[in-house]
Amino acid sequence: MNAAADPALFAPDDAADPNEPDRTLAANAAPAGRWTHQHLLDVDVLTTDDLDLIMQTTATMAQVLTRPIPKVPALRGWGVTILFYEASTRTRVSFEVAAKNLSADVVNIAAASSSVSKGESLIDTIRTVEALGARMLVLRHATSGAPYLAAEHFSGSVLNGGDGWHAHPTQALLDLYTLRTRLPGGIVAGRKVVILGDVMHSRVARSNLWSLTAAGADVWLCGPATLLRGFDAWAAAGVAGSRRFTVTSDLPAALRDADVVMALRIQRERMASGLLPSLREYAARFGLTRERMALARPDALVMHPGPMNEGVEIAPDVATGRQSVITEQVANGVAVRMAVLYLLAGARDSAATRESAATRESAGARDSAGARDSAGARDSAGRAAAE
Ligand code: MLT
Repeated sequence: MNAAADPALFAPDDAADPNEPDRTLAANAAPAGRWTHQHLLDVDVLTTDDLDLIMQTTATMAQVLTRPIPKVPALRGWGVTILFYEASTRTRVSFEVAAKNLSADVVNIAAASSSVSKGESLIDTIRTVEALGARMLVLRHATSGAPYLAAEHFSGSVLNGGDGWHAHPTQALLDLYTLRTRLPGGIVAGRKVVILGDVMHSRVARSNLWSLTAAGADVWLCGPATLLRGFDAWAAAGVAGSRRFTVTSDLPAALRDADVVMALRIQRERMASGLLPSLREYAARFGLTRERMALARPDALVMHPGPMNEGVEIAPDVATGRQSVITEQVANGVAVRMAVLYLLAGARDSAATRESAATRESAGARDSAGARDSAGARDSAGRAAAE
């Protein structure tokens, strides 16, 4: 089923009869065979088809969001737990709004006020939220790889809400969607996209590098050499294959004729001392100002994943100027997260349907085998009695 054509998505929730089970996700399952992932841990495992399906489903969700009541019953009865071990405004709230728009039962856990503060381990916490009914877990953690560990211990779907320096898949997806809605013709391929700033500590940069190059963009990573470590070696080693990316500290070269400039926050909480002389010096040498933006194409888009430190990585007038799509990124985050929750739930739902069909089939096979066996036994018993 094509998500964009799914009639259940077009039924406003207020028209739904809560006693009608067929209005739940079972009726709205994602296209069988098209979405096969149980978890969303990073974008590096997504094929071009997966990315297209997410973009197409996001467009449908964006239409839902224009309704007076932006709610559909797709995840009714699904427990979604949002477990954040790091501070967040946009990502946490946007996952919550997305899950509620799909009528899920949402539980929010801030690690600081949970049993984690009493020493409970991540694995124990995951077992606990599962025992309490969660079928989807959105996890943010300061340790890279934590969602992968969670996925080994959680029988539902894990969505990575950002892990350490490693990955932030829904941010990359919302950035891709924003570009597809804002670039002429919706074409990302061949566009020069500059990711500027603290690339080394940025999970946003790492995930975007995968999805934007997969979409054919020409990605430039730019910042002080100390904040690009590892990426230059990666590019030089030809790891990029046919993907196009350049790593440089030459800001004018990066900005010249850029179609998109994405500024990144200086992540002080992850930064070892000695990587930057001072924030003032960083702002003076790499801050995105109006004068510097003049090197890019006149219609170039300005992006930022937030939270912004205005006056450091981006000047306030650039952040709110006519080229900025930063608030659109935030709004698109809800539609993208609705899309991935919907697709993951649909995939699990189809897997469950396939599993119960297989169980029915093998039970049927057992029954007929049993019938054959007992008929055979009866025959031999009859023969034995006659002999
Ligand atoms: C993140 O969680 O990585 C943010 O969206 C970007 C940041 O914290 O600077």
